[in-house]
This record gives sequence, C-alpha cells and structure tokens, in this order.
Amino acid sequence: MKRELPDQLMFIVNRRAIQKTTDASMQGKVCVVTGCTSGVGFEALRRLARGGAQLVMVCRNRQKAEAIREQTASRYGVRIDIVTADFRDLGAVRAAAGVLLDGCPRIDLLINSVGLHSTTHTTTAAGLETVFCVNHLAPFLLTHLLLDRMKRSAPSRIIQVNSEGHRFGSIDLDDLDWKRRRYTGLRSYGASKTAQLLSVWEFADRLEGTGVTINAMHPGDVRTNIGNNNGPLYRLFKRTVVWPMLKDPVISGEALYFLAAAPELAGVSGRFFHLTIEEKPAAHALDRELGRRVWELSLALTGLAPAAFSPGP
Ligand SMILES: NC(=O)c1ccc[n+]([C@@H]2O[C@H](COP(=O)([O-])OP(=O)(O)OC[C@H]3O[C@@H](n4cnc5c(N)ncnc54)[C@H](OP(=O)(O)O)[C@@H]3O)[C@@H](O)[C@H]2O)c1
Repeated sequence: MKRELPDQLMFIVNRRAIQKTTDASMQGKVCVVTGCTSGVGFEALRRLARGGAQLVMVCRNRQKAEAIREQTASRYGVRIDIVTADFRDLGAVRAAAGVLLDGCPRIDLLINSVGLHSTTHTTTAAGLETVFCVNHLAPFLLTHLLLDRMKRSAPSRIIQVNSEGHRFGSIDLDDLDWKRRRYTGLRSYGASKTAQLLSVWEFADRLEGTGVTINAMHPGDVRTNIGNNNGPLYRLFKRTVVWPMLKDPVISGEALYFLAAAPELAGVSGRFFHLTIEEKPAAHALDRELGRRVWELSLALTGLAPAAFSPGP
C-alpha cells in the first residue's frame, strides 16, 4: 500500500507531479506583471503573450524591459506597455500604481513575481529591511492600490509568486529589522514570504464576493537570476552545485498561465499552489492571528493606514 506523506512534506511529491495546463485564451485581458525582466516573471509574460493577453510590465530596468518588449510584442503580436518602479522605494511603487491606473481602464490580472534573496542584511533608503520591502511590502502596496480597478474589472485574478521558502521560518514582528536575531538570507527570505502568504488569506477574506480572487504559488525550483546579487562565490556555488538540480523556468510560466486562465479556477481564492497543485503551507503561515498583525503592520508601513505598530526597537 502506498504511504501518504504528511501535509508538511507534500511539496516533495508535488515537485515531481504532472502539472495542469490550460489552452484557455487570455485574449482581451489586461495583465500586469511585476518582476518580469527575468526568470519566473519573464516566462509568465511570454506565456501570457502567447495566450493573447495585453501586457503591462512593471520593472526597475527600462532598458532591459524594452528589449524584452521588442522581442515579445513582435513575436506574439500583442501590446506591451512598461511602467518602471524600484520596489525598494514605496514612493516609486505608489507612482507606478498611479501610472497604471491612468493607463489601464481595466486590469484583469496582476502577477507579483518581483523577488529577492539577500545573504547580507541591507536596508532601503526608508530604513526597511530590503528583502521584506521588495518581497512583501511593495507588492502588498501595489496590490492594494490596484484593487478598486480590479474589482471594477471583475472577474479578475491576483497571483502572488510566493515560495516553498516560506517554510524556512516565520516572521518576528518585534524584530523586523533583525536587531535582536542573527540575520541570514534564508531566514529573511522565509519571513518575507510568510508575511506575503499570511496577507493572501487576509486579502482573500476581504475580497470575498467582489469577483476578485487572490492566490499564492511556488513557481518550482527553477534556473533564474535569483540570488545573483550575492557575490561571485554565491554565483559559483549556485552555478555548479544548485543549478543542475533546478528546472527550466518555462514550467513556472506555464503554471502561472494555468492559475491565471484556467476556467476551473474561477472563484478559487485564498489558496497556495505548488506550481498548479494545491498544497498546505507551513503551520506558521496559517496562523491567522499573526496574519492579522502582519496585515495591520503592512498597512501602517506602506502608509495605507495610520501607524498602529512600530517596526521594532
Ligand atoms: N527561482 C526559483 O526557484 C524560485 C523558487 C521559489 C520562489 N521564487 C520566487 O519567484 C519570484 C521571481 O524570482 P526569480 O527566481 O524569477 O528571480 P529573478 O530571475 O532574479 O527575477 C526577479 C525579478 O524581480 C525583479 N526585481 C528584483 N529586485 C527588484 C527591485 N528592487 N525592484 C523592482 N524589481 C526588482 C528583477 O528585476 P531585474 O531583472 O532588474 O533584476 C527580476 O525581474 C520571486 O518572488 C522569488 O521569490 C523563485
């Protein structure tokens, strides 16, 4: 008899599972994709273009984005616009949301694929821990600012590119800037992804009945540029040791397309998917009391609500 693994280990099975696909069209859908100049987001952009979507790239490097636009728009015959914002700067994210709202009468899909893994502790100009800001706060802010437009465009979908890395650890709201604990890249990555996951359940509750769904996904273990900011030794280790175990990020693009377009996912919200297979997240990412505190803190730190919490000592 085949033994089932416990929920917490199902990612081992799911990473080898046959994934779902869809041929549903995205023709006429306006899709905003962040972090699409590389890796997972880039593959999602290409797959959406193949599906006929009208695209808006949100990225920090205009030159890189223009080269991608040129290739992708002509290959698939779709319109692609570019909006720039560095996600270390919440002011820039607000400005980008303004440009999006001015330029897009409707938004049918938002994919937040922007992401970072940093082995060194750094802070943004505003004093926020960088990984937390880029992976959680900035996409949280952008998502909020686009919500009304997405409600008016309903049915619409939001997909947060999260990670099995949320299992690396929970978030300590009293030590967001790692003054009391030893910072490691994996712990800060885990904390940022946990914050994002907890916020997905909060968003989903608030969006119930609006026709806007929100889900999170792990995009597979794939060959991308993530971590390349961590210096030559890291890059050498990644290329020689980790790279051979990773897959082509085309699978991430295909999975995101499924989550964006599959008719069977209409109305499905507040779930975590390993690529296309629903999975139970780590227990700490299901702690709704912690989620409510993350929500309030994120509202305060992004200026969406008056400060109710301080970011830590
Ligand atoms: N690769 C994996 O195996 C894996 C596994 C689990 C989860 N993920 C998640 O997948 C998502 C995409 O990562 P990836 O693997 O595709 O990595 P990637 O190739 O490094 O892509 C990251 C994207 O985010 C953008 N970005 C990074 N910092 C930014 C900033 N400050 N402002 C604006 N944009 C910024 C990058 O822009 P530039 O091109 O300008 O650098 C790039 O477009 C992340 O959320 C990551 O956590 C990846």
